[in-house]
Amino acid sequence: MRLDPLAGRRILVGISGSIAAVKLPLVVSALAKRGAQVRCVITPSAAQLVSPVALASLSRERCYLDADQWSHTAPRPLHVELAEWAELVLLAPLSATTLGRWVHGLGDTLLASTLLATEAPVLAAAAMNTAMWSAPGVRANWEQVQRFERVLPLGPAEGLLACDRQGSGRMAEPELLLLALESLASWGWQRDWQGRRLLVSAGPTREWLDPARCISNPSTGRMGVLLAQAARLRGAEVDLVHGALQVAPAWLEGLTLHPIDTGAELKQALERLQPRAHAIAMAAAVADHRPARTLSHKPSKAELEAVMAGPWAPVPDLLMELVSRRSAGQRILGFAAQSGDVLPQAQAKFARKGCDLLFANPIDQTGAGFGSFTNQGWLLGPGAAVERLESMGKLTLAHRLITALGASS
Ligand code: CTP
Repeated sequence: MRLDPLAGRRILVGISGSIAAVKLPLVVSALAKRGAQVRCVITPSAAQLVSPVALASLSRERCYLDADQWSHTAPRPLHVELAEWAELVLLAPLSATTLGRWVHGLGDTLLASTLLATEAPVLAAAAMNTAMWSAPGVRANWEQVQRFERVLPLGPAEGLLACDRQGSGRMAEPELLLLALESLASWGWQRDWQGRRLLVSAGPTREWLDPARCISNPSTGRMGVLLAQAARLRGAEVDLVHGALQVAPAWLEGLTLHPIDTGAELKQALERLQPRAHAIAMAAAVADHRPARTLSHKPSKAELEAVMAGPWAPVPDLLMELVSRRSAGQRILGFAAQSGDVLPQAQAKFARKGCDLLFANPIDQTGAGFGSFTNQGWLLGPGAAVERLESMGKLTLAHRLITALGASS
């Protein structure tokens, strides 16, 4: 199985006229480094903002301009050639003008005619000034795009724009574009979670001994954040309750964030957010014990040793609490981090916790568990069902788990 869904893929990058175009050389470079074949098509206004020469160098291919469309030496129309070559299209940034042409079926530039001619899935990332983004014509066009087959629309984020406006209009950051493109390659564009709300917990909790020292674990939160983004790209509203994360900040765009630190804070957040969730994925790595007393000052070594000698209090099992409170039809996915012989331990944990699904993975093997880019393990489900999931990228795995969670909700 291909571990990077973008490696070896033919990706057409369409760049239209928004200042966010300056970020595209980074995306093109990253795609080429991941082994994708990349060709760029750029509109005249985008060519004022970003250099076609830079795009050609970074993609290791020529960069196509409007002037290339009318050649008496080409045996086939260039827009048809490019449209049929592409396995995936990244349309970023998508300007108001290119959006308008696309929605209204106009093919008067190389990019516009290529978009009409392609049958490949398109990731469309809009970017423009806040007032332009809220103009009725643009809103109506963007609404239309939501209904297009084969299109994954990525609306702009809030932020400080180059025009000095604070508001919506900033293009999704390059790391999110790459993640969404990987999602398009591995899952597709179908929004089967539209209208549903997912609650995800991710990352580690920390239990403090004193202001300088804590008990925690090496969870980076990657698996939980990817579950959240996979569901969001499939149309879900997502609440992400998270401890200290080590992921690209761009991967958090489009999620409703609820930062926590300790197990007690995680417990409170879950109690508050559970009632509105259609489904829950409990990927947080909860630290299981906390000292019975936390010192408010940084102690001497001897004093610290006394705290570490105990007593310790258990952190309640939050997954079991979620299961005991759940409403009818609310499906819950738990995780099991195991060393040694994973499956029998996971089966016992699954029976004990009472969740609908449990994904168990080894944490003592390379390429699985904490901080890895890939994962593998066993998915346990109703009726003692056990599915072996071989090593795959964590986003691909996230989609498999979201499908399993969605199928039963
Ligand atoms: N979990 C939880 N509350 C805890 C501990 C774990 O909700 N206090 C959840 C985790 O988020 C995960 C599942 O329970 O979904 C299993 O976590 P894991 O650490 O593998 O197991 P533990 O319950 O801690 O059991 P053990 O450490 O004995 O393996």
